[in-house]
Amino acid sequence: MTTPKHFLTMLDYDKEMIQALLEDAKQLKKELKEGTPHPHLKGKTLAMIFEKSSTRTRVSFEVGMLQLGGHALFLSSNEIQLGRGEPISDTAKVLSGYVDGIMIRTFGHSRIEELADQATIPVINGLTNEHHPCQVMADLLTIQEQKGTLEGLTASYIGDGFNNVAHSLIQGLCLMGMHVKVASPEGYEPDPAIMHEAEVIAGEQGGSLAFSHSAQTAIQDSDVVITDVWASMGNEAEKEQRLNDFQGFQVNQELTEHAKDDYIFLHCLPAHRGEEVTSEIIDGSHSVVFEEAENRLHAQKAILKKLL
Ligand code: CP
Ligand code: NVA
Repeated sequence: MTTPKHFLTMLDYDKEMIQALLEDAKQLKKELKEGTPHPHLKGKTLAMIFEKSSTRTRVSFEVGMLQLGGHALFLSSNEIQLGRGEPISDTAKVLSGYVDGIMIRTFGHSRIEELADQATIPVINGLTNEHHPCQVMADLLTIQEQKGTLEGLTASYIGDGFNNVAHSLIQGLCLMGMHVKVASPEGYEPDPAIMHEAEVIAGEQGGSLAFSHSAQTAIQDSDVVITDVWASMGNEAEKEQRLNDFQGFQVNQELTEHAKDDYIFLHCLPAHRGEEVTSEIIDGSHSVVFEEAENRLHAQKAILKKLL
């Protein structure tokens, strides 16, 4: 596979390319910790468009560009003409004349596809309603660091199956040859098209993909336990309904008794403590959520270095 121009979903890249990016992320992390400068993107500029809130994505991309010798522009959609109805296609063409890459956090995935189609520069997905691939690059890096490998490990995702993090995890973990088990309440299952495609990929890579409506079934003997909020950005109006529908899907002490003794716990953050996960788990000895958050920086620097 030649390197695609953009990074919109985990399946834009093949397993070897993901592994190479993870190796580069580890190298950049090592150099940063040693204090070795690595200005691979000297003079390059990244436009960062945010149509939704962010802490990690905004800060890690901005700091990452700075550490690579480049510059990042924070563009809140409320403050640029995009928020007043300028077409995304015109925005893509205009920005292509000024900057070297665009990172965008937006709503429907078709918006980023249109942006990528119309831009002459690389576009990176900083989260859409359907995908969050930069998060999953950090998750893969974290799992590999903690467990020494990805292939053959069992990971369970418990919670909202029809969201960005779940979809990118299903794609990314299956691509890397892991055994992936997903549990969601009825009505919150992952996109069937994403499940079917990932199941085939998992088979090719020596992994597997299974779905269940039981959190206990999914978490059984897992090396890695992952969850995400029950109501994502944009689902706020359904919050009360979802709190009710997700009963039995909280990652807590009782549920994690069924995972392996040395399981690790991941959450993309922000977390709603007491809803999808208890404070006992997120602050407990199995949790690697802050290592995971830090790894957003290192994983994204490898992506920026490759694409810009
Ligand atoms: N995990 C993540 O994307 O966090 P932010 O919403 O803070 O960017
Ligand atoms: N699924 C969450 C992820 C936040 C980083 C959301 O979309 O709000």
